[in-house]
Amino acid sequence: MKEKIDALLSTSAGTPEDLIPLLQAVQQEFGYVPEEAIFAISQKTGISPSQVFGTLTFYAQFRLHPQGRNVIKVCRGTACHVRGGPRLLRTLTNHLDIDSGETTPDLEFSIEEIGCFGSCSLAPVVVVNEDTYGRLTPEKALQIVESYRNNGQNRG
Ligand code: FES
Repeated sequence: MKEKIDALLSTSAGTPEDLIPLLQAVQQEFGYVPEEAIFAISQKTGISPSQVFGTLTFYAQFRLHPQGRNVIKVCRGTACHVRGGPRLLRTLTNHLDIDSGETTPDLEFSIEEIGCFGSCSLAPVVVVNEDTYGRLTPEKALQIVESYRNNGQNRG
């Protein structure tokens, strides 16, 4: 990882204005911004690690942890909430043994909560990667999520 970070940083002049482009380049490479990169970027740009960290957490586009190969987004909007969204979320987090906002240790799945998807008539809604699923029961949600395991080898 260190070599890759060094290679990315070597293409930059390292001015304070390069902070965001450097963070974007690192995230593009790794899918998130590792702690190691925060310190390397700090050294390169002369911006303190806490300021780099502050910038990272300010912008929603940046992630501090690796994301799973499959990203499960559970809607927490009102319509989904009243139609069983929290139960879906609990079922999925229990099944994968992670909390919302976390990734499984094998990097297969991440779970996130998202505001209304705009598909309220389908509540409760879960989106896996780019695919939207509605009117879900916990059982159906588990089946769908498992169908994505190992690059969808269980699907079909
Ligand atoms: S509240 Fe879930 S899609 Fe609108």
